Formats: sequence, C-alpha cells, structure tokens
Amino acid sequence: MHKIAVSSFKGGTAKTSTSLHLAAALAKYHKQKVLIIDLDAQANLTTGLGYDPDAQDSMAPVLQGQKKIQDVILPTSVKNLDLIPADTWLERVEVTGALAADRYSHERLKEILKPLNYDTIIIDTPPSLCWLTESALIAANHSLVCATPEFYSIKGLQRLSQFMQSISQRHPFNVLGVALSFWNPRGKSNEAFLEVIEGTFPGKLLGSKIRRDISVSEASVYGKPIFETAPKARAAEDYLSLTKEILKRM
Ligand SMILES: Nc1ncnc2c1ncn2[C@@H]1O[C@H](COP(=O)(O)OP(=O)(O)OP(=O)(O)O)[C@@H](O)[C@H]1O
Ligand SMILES: [Mg+2]
Repeated sequence: MHKIAVSSFKGGTAKTSTSLHLAAALAKYHKQKVLIIDLDAQANLTTGLGYDPDAQDSMAPVLQGQKKIQDVILPTSVKNLDLIPADTWLERVEVTGALAADRYSHERLKEILKPLNYDTIIIDTPPSLCWLTESALIAANHSLVCATPEFYSIKGLQRLSQFMQSISQRHPFNVLGVALSFWNPRGKSNEAFLEVIEGTFPGKLLGSKIRRDISVSEASVYGKPIFETAPKARAAEDYLSLTKEILKRM
C-alpha cells in the first residue's frame, strides 16, 4: 500500500488540488482503489469533493480513539475513490483529549492506517510544519512536495526539506518529487527557480508541471475533479502526465 503525504511550508501551493487530481487520476484511469485523507482544518479537499465539512466526522475522533477509521470513510463521485473528510476539530486536535497526554501521539496516524486495504492513500496537509503534517509524513512511505514558481514558495522548500530530513531519520520515506503548479512556460525567473529546487531537492523536480488554468478552481465549485468537469482542459492533461510520472517513481 502506497501512502503519499502531500506537503509544503507555504500556503497556496496547490497541495489540495494536486492531492485531489492525483487521487482521481489513479482511481479513474489507472484502476486503483484510492483513499484521500483531508488532514487540514480548512477542509478545502472535503468541499472540493462536494461534502459539507461540518456535516460528518473527520479524522479527529479517530485520532482521539473515539471512532473506528472505517466509520469516517465516505464514497465520492469518482468510482474507487474514497474520502476521509476534515472539520475544524482537526485544528489543535493534538492538545485535546487522549492525544494531549500521549508522548507518541504523532505516530498514531501511522498505526490507524495499517489495517486499511487500498492501492494508494493520499494525505493532504495544512500549509505549516505542524503536528498534522508531521503525523502525515510519519504515516507515509512517500512524500510529494508542492511549490509554485514564486520566490517565497521556493524559499519555503529549504525549511520543508530540513523538517522532512529530521522526520525521515526515524521514519524513512521516499521523496517522490517536487510538483510545480501555476506554471507559466514563459516566466522570466523560471531558470532561477528550477536551480533553487535542484539545489534543495536534487533530481526530484517532476517534469510535468501544472499550468495555470481557471478550470481547476471552477471544478471545485462543482465538487468534482477536473476530469469530470473539463476533461479537455490543459490542467487535466498536465495532471494526467504528472500521475504517470509519479507512478513510475513509486
Ligand atoms: N493550476 C491551477 N491553475 C489555476 N488555479 C489553480 C491551479 N491549481 C490550484 N488552483 C487554485 O488555487 C487555489 C489554491 O489551490 P489549493 O487550495 O490547491 O492550494 P493549497 O496549497 O492546498 O492551499 P492551502 O495552503 O491553503 O491548503 C484554489 O482556489 C485552487 O482552485
Ligand atoms: Mg490545501
């Protein structure tokens, strides 16, 4: 079972959109049984798949030992793609209830996912190096880094790389790659950005970059991935080639 944590230090690097479309492409075009976990209290992934975040249980009561993971899994409009939604309770869940007293609380998610039976589990994380992101990286055997071609996003990679290195000493995982979104093939500083990425994650930049495309944000309004709403859009094409590249690296 592949478990991929999708992360970035900075916000708005398309973590949620990349998690959703990688998961949907694996389920729809590669016949995989996929689970996607929304581990961000913002719950954008949950909304992006058409669910109201506060209408059902998230990972929070499962992490607290109050619910079984099987009880919080929901089906989605995509065949073979399941979702564990998020809610606001995830924010500061680690300082609440049973987790507050547990020194090893960030290893709980790893234990909770063990009995599941999926080809791939994808975990979308918040834009910070917090307890939830650490739990996701500990639970994962792969990580996918998201970035945009902007100075602060690229700088944030260095901090994320240090964070990932310290976790992987005790809980090894493989860095699948760095996925760039909002790509402008004619961007003036592209060369400089690619150089910094190569310096921070050598050999990890994924060749398939996701171009800026309004159909990505439009799809979330419909609560569906772009493959359902605009299958001919350029971002759909980019996500499909990104998925193929990631499959090769798994
Ligand atoms: N390739 C793209 N072209 C245009 N818009 C995009 C693209 N990818 C994502 N977006 C839009 O940009 C916004 C931010 O994307 P997304 O929510 O995936 O980022 P994020 O890294 O998960 O953000 P956060 O750090 O807040 O969790 C969303 O409105 C999304 O629909
Ligand atoms: Mg997000």
